[in-house]
Amino acid sequence: MSVNNISMLDTMRSRQSIRTFDTEAISEEHFKQINNYIEEEQNFVSPFGLRGYIELIPVVNNVTDKGIKLGTYGFIKNPRAYLVGMTENNKDAIVQFGYVFQKLVIFLTQLGIGTCWMGGTFNRNSFEKEISLKEGQFIPCVTPIGYPKEKQRVFDKALRFVVKADNKKAWDKLFFDANFESPLVKEVADTLQIPIEMVRLGPSASNKQPWRLVLSKDRQFCHFYIEHTPNYSKSFGYDMQLLDMGIAMCQFELACSELMIYGEWLKENPALAVPNNEIEYIVSWKFW
Ligand SMILES: Cc1cc2nc3c(=O)[nH]c(=O)nc-3n(C[C@H](O)[C@H](O)[C@H](O)COP(=O)(O)O)c2cc1C
Repeated sequence: MSVNNISMLDTMRSRQSIRTFDTEAISEEHFKQINNYIEEEQNFVSPFGLRGYIELIPVVNNVTDKGIKLGTYGFIKNPRAYLVGMTENNKDAIVQFGYVFQKLVIFLTQLGIGTCWMGGTFNRNSFEKEISLKEGQFIPCVTPIGYPKEKQRVFDKALRFVVKADNKKAWDKLFFDANFESPLVKEVADTLQIPIEMVRLGPSASNKQPWRLVLSKDRQFCHFYIEHTPNYSKSFGYDMQLLDMGIAMCQFELACSELMIYGEWLKENPALAVPNNEIEYIVSWKFW
């Protein structure tokens, strides 16, 4: 899936949420590539099956061809289109859709197109008017797209400051060795250092970074847990942080595949003792 032979690792390292876009239109060639991407069923296959849909909606001044204004409460400036995600509102579907949507985000980043995952700061009603929501589906996330503007607005910088976007948690807060009592030391992680680091660099809702990874003692598994932020998702009507877990899976897997580290996703809860009730098991990567 790599575009123009750009390294996935470099792409993941350079990606940042973009909220201010250049006024330049997206090129026809790029529109074609994006359309091809979202029409390809293969791109919606998550580790546990086929997940969701994505619709592309071009906009000018945030207004669609149908004349509908897509509201983002002033968070997004000069988007040239939106990509709108749709899936079912249950745990498995949301995690898996996070994985699918992050693959799209990486693909766009490789094209030089800016993205900003959005689960909260957009007007769902206006987006629902524009797309054809299928029975049983809802919109877990959207991203505006366009070419990044060199100079970001003061608003963008202030927002990055408020959500501490550049403050990614340190290894010892996120990654553990055999159990939740022992932090995982980078050097001990050996070949897994890079895939684990890619999880750390991923985007997450309000930059809460809820992922917690435990590398098993025998080094056969890397277990993925979520530490829910208390009360975070209540007002949204779905557990937005589950998307972050799918993002972590995507970042980890893309790094492994570039580094030729082979394995597969399994749900095999190791039933480890957890330090608090907010921590929940999601999935494991089993090394071959
Ligand atoms: C699931 C999810 C939902 C998000 N929702 C919003 C949002 O509603 N509005 C917004 O401005 N940013 C949103 N973000 C972007 C995060 O604030 C951003 O990823 C985080 O601050 C880290 O910054 P970075 O993406 O530049 O690494 C969301 C990110 C994720 C993964």
